[in-house]
Amino acid sequence: MDKTRTGSAPARRPEPQAGTAARFIPPGADLPALRRAAAECTACPLHAVGTRTVFGAGPPDAELMLVGEQPGDQEDQAGEPFVGPAGRLLDRALEQAGIDRSRTYVTNAVKHFKWEPRGKRRIHSKPNAGEIRACKPWLEAEIALIAPKAIVCLGATAAQALLGRDFRVSRDRGMFLQSDLAVHVMATVHPSSLLRVPDEASRRAGIARFVDELRKVSQVLD
Ligand code: URA
Repeated sequence: MDKTRTGSAPARRPEPQAGTAARFIPPGADLPALRRAAAECTACPLHAVGTRTVFGAGPPDAELMLVGEQPGDQEDQAGEPFVGPAGRLLDRALEQAGIDRSRTYVTNAVKHFKWEPRGKRRIHSKPNAGEIRACKPWLEAEIALIAPKAIVCLGATAAQALLGRDFRVSRDRGMFLQSDLAVHVMATVHPSSLLRVPDEASRRAGIARFVDELRKVSQVLD
């Protein structure tokens, strides 16, 4: 039956951001207030999986924002993004590209560590679309406050969170993209994917390409 014709109330549409972190964001929050609020976020089930919220880190006037997927085991323990093996690779690559990490803002699309037990180890588990969506208001708020000149998405999760589900890193990596997010927006691979390349020569080649892409970014920074 068509209810609109009988005069009964039309089904109420859900709020576009219902079920996301949007309701945890204090109006007018600056970066420290945002970080404090994010520590209390329970917008998705991952708050009970990770030890703590791992919020972005870096200066509020950073020209460059790097966006990863989610904190890993070491980041979950330290409460800081990209401090584990992938972060060390990223640090070396940034240095080789002429980018000072201490002047960049580093964050993740999802701010809790999602993992599964394997023996005594906590193994990374990919965040799903609902978890990425739930966390996105934090990332949007970080971008709005920092207003970086350049954003680099590291890997498919960050790229698809910010550039759309159809974005393919394998196809569109390393090029500047038209986007409202910042003047210069690029996506490239996630440093963890480079760590997983089994063959040393291919790994070196992959890292060299990653550094070349970051070098392109360094050229558009002041
Ligand atoms: N991988 C990520 O995507 N982010 C981190 O902070 C660490 C590893």
